[in-house]
Amino acid sequence: MSAENHKQMAGEAAAAFVQPGMVVGLGTGSTAAWFVKALAARSLDVVGVPTSQATADLALSLGLRLADLDEVRQIDLTVDGADEIGPGLALIKGGGAALLREKLVWEASRRCVVIADAAKQVRTLGRFALPIEVVAFGHRSTALRISDALSECDIGVGARLRVKDGAPVRTDGGNLIYDAPCGTIEDPAMLADALKSVTGVVDHGLFLDLADEALIGTDAGVVSLTP
Ligand code: A5P
Repeated sequence: MSAENHKQMAGEAAAAFVQPGMVVGLGTGSTAAWFVKALAARSLDVVGVPTSQATADLALSLGLRLADLDEVRQIDLTVDGADEIGPGLALIKGGGAALLREKLVWEASRRCVVIADAAKQVRTLGRFALPIEVVAFGHRSTALRISDALSECDIGVGARLRVKDGAPVRTDGGNLIYDAPCGTIEDPAMLADALKSVTGVVDHGLFLDLADEALIGTDAGVVSLTP
């Protein structure tokens, strides 16, 4: 089976968790897209809160009812993908540049389920370059202070501005993304704090203590993990 099959299996398994009347956070990325499609196919009376314009466009095209985060009192369940899933369900997210809206929706949710193909599971976070969302004003100066924060955590690399088709990638909120190829993140909580203390950093892709369950698609079926 391909990684795409595994993503589809995980997305469809998560859609079975949704009950009529729920407010559901809709993640971003290719795995979350399988969830959105499977959810729409169930034709339940639910409201979706999208984490990106791309997900909003997909969900609307499939007939899902949507609301903005500020229009709902609480989100019952959020389902989203990840770039890496480490021990304790610590995650790296943001490969799709949606990390800020994703984190806002995750933090407003009673329950968060991460869905992924088997290749996303790692023993130590850091092989996937850590996305960091930065305000555009003075971003090169901010990047120097990000390097300092990384070196405080014994990570001897800098962060690279994410560029696509020759232009810096802009998030839905108009910010920029820097990617830090950390290699190994020995202490994710320390790194998270160090990055958040840099003025100009809006947020980073470390999602710690947020996921309640992971559904991993494998050749042997969908495997459920808890922290
Ligand atoms: C979007 O910003 C990310 O956090 C995605 O959830 C993550 O990159 C996983 O994407 P895929 O499901 O496409 O691998």
